[in-house]
Amino acid sequence: MGTIVSTGWNVQAIREDFPILKTLVHNKPLIYFDNAASTQKPKIVLDTEYHYYTTQYSNIHRGVHYLSQIGTDLYEKTRHTIKNFIGAASEKEIIFTKGTTNSINLLAYSWSSAFLKAGDEILITGMEHHSNIVPWQMACQRHGANLKVIPIQEDGSINIEDVKKLISGKTRLLAFTYVSNALGTINPVKDMIDLAHQAGAHVLLDAAQAIQHIPMNVQDLDCDFLAFSGHKIYGPTGTGILYGKEKLLDAIPPFEGGGDMIKDVKFEHTSFNELPFKFEAGTPNIAGIIALGTAIEYVENIGLDKIYAYEDELLQYGTEQLSQIDSLKIYGQSKHKSSVLSFLLGKAHPYDVGVILDHLGIAIRTGHHCTQPIMDHFCIPGTCRASFAFYNTKEEIDALVSGIRRAAKMLL
Ligand code: ALA
Repeated sequence: MGTIVSTGWNVQAIREDFPILKTLVHNKPLIYFDNAASTQKPKIVLDTEYHYYTTQYSNIHRGVHYLSQIGTDLYEKTRHTIKNFIGAASEKEIIFTKGTTNSINLLAYSWSSAFLKAGDEILITGMEHHSNIVPWQMACQRHGANLKVIPIQEDGSINIEDVKKLISGKTRLLAFTYVSNALGTINPVKDMIDLAHQAGAHVLLDAAQAIQHIPMNVQDLDCDFLAFSGHKIYGPTGTGILYGKEKLLDAIPPFEGGGDMIKDVKFEHTSFNELPFKFEAGTPNIAGIIALGTAIEYVENIGLDKIYAYEDELLQYGTEQLSQIDSLKIYGQSKHKSSVLSFLLGKAHPYDVGVILDHLGIAIRTGHHCTQPIMDHFCIPGTCRASFAFYNTKEEIDALVSGIRRAAKMLL
């Protein structure tokens, strides 16, 4: 698998960085195509956590002692790395959370408390992950507001004319995904953000499926909030980011109360800490956040533009190859797509296809991918989803294709 493809990508050298890729599954070399669910970790990220726990560990922000100060510095260094990575104006705008879901729930509580009233509208798209639907449904119920949905088209894209029709003076927030986890669609983010701002609405961009594939700058995009998870960008689980414009984060109340998020506590009254700490109650995933900084540096050293080009090459190749399989239908055929291939094989249940592929060492995800409304839209129970990362190869895609052909012989 030492392929050097036309983008000049030395995939074999990259694969050496990921110890798990040498694993055997059912006695076959692992082919990991479940990257939209979570990405594997380079050794340097694992080493950072190990080194921190074995030589530097203590709690942060609390002690004058040596270890506490080292930990605090490393933790805050990740904030600085992420601020630069997404082009935020200040470290105050980078809130550490447990992941995208936690970031959106924080916002759905705190932003809604300050900005959402009865009769207001929140606009989402028909391709949102449940984590960008349910928190807003709950917020709308609490505040008497209404949730509106921009429909998806047959190819899995949205029509900007539908966005224009649905945004109105009542819209307080447009909350939408940059990239669909189930279909791969890349949304026209800049146009959508501009439309929302023209109507006076705020914008939350769910970047969970974009941050690891597409270079982005929050100031150029002009989104008001952005959320992503560390584990999808080669970092540890239980880490995430909520970016928010400083003036908006200042204007909304804290989400959780506890240590670290306070300035002064009396039984009669508590005043809150300054940004970003106002939103970071309790002891966080210190080692995870520090290792997330290493993961982001690792990605930056390779270059997201190069990653995007290589993954796009995999997507084009995978699309061509899968399209040649009789009775296979790809869901999500938007012109602008990320490296996700969702498909059904005739009338075979996705679970059965997934089990056969698993026995060949190939990990895909099957089911509704936490996007039941998309499955309802296409009147299907779920799909098989192969999602590629920059350590995957065309040879692995060939193995997927032959695995699917084998599944077809057994199931159809
Ligand atoms: N949201 C993750 C996925 O798409 C878990 O698989």
